[in-house]
Amino acid sequence: MKKIRILAIVGSLRKDSYNRQLALAAQEVIGDRAEFTLLEYQDIPFMDQDIEYPAPEAIKRVRDVVKYADGIWFFTPEYNHFFPGVLKNLIDWLSRPISDKEPPLLAGKPAAISGISPGMAGTSLAQDH
Ligand SMILES: Cc1cc2nc3c(=O)[nH]c(=O)nc-3n(C[C@H](O)[C@H](O)[C@H](O)COP(=O)(O)O)c2cc1C
Repeated sequence: MKKIRILAIVGSLRKDSYNRQLALAAQEVIGDRAEFTLLEYQDIPFMDQDIEYPAPEAIKRVRDVVKYADGIWFFTPEYNHFFPGVLKNLIDWLSRPISDKEPPLLAGKPAAISGISPGMAGTSLAQDH
């Protein structure tokens, strides 16, 4: 039977990120019941419509990984009651049509959101956005 392909996207670029650790813990719990991949996207540029078409190589690579996934699981911190700008930037890139032949990648893709924070409210506001 085909394994479900889950793509974990962590909203923190920090090496020792709690959210990254949470994603790795989820991976451990899931074990071999699903294919679990963590998206690396430190190298993507800021969204800039001047460089949108043709897309930079880093964006093409990230899009291929997202396209392959059956669903996305976001693990995000909260920055000033929102999710971090690096994640917003990634979502902005992914939200755009690839070309006039291919639709945006995120439309219709199942998604889940988790988050961890040393703060009392967890990451509820970030997740709400
Ligand atoms: C710019 C900035 C803003 C933050 N704002 C919030 C916040 O609104 N709520 C919260 O619970 N924690 C906030 N924090 C603390 C983060 O939750 C904490 O640094 C957390 O460890 C970041 O996630 P990470 O460990 O996955 O990198 C903020 C941290 C930074 C750097």
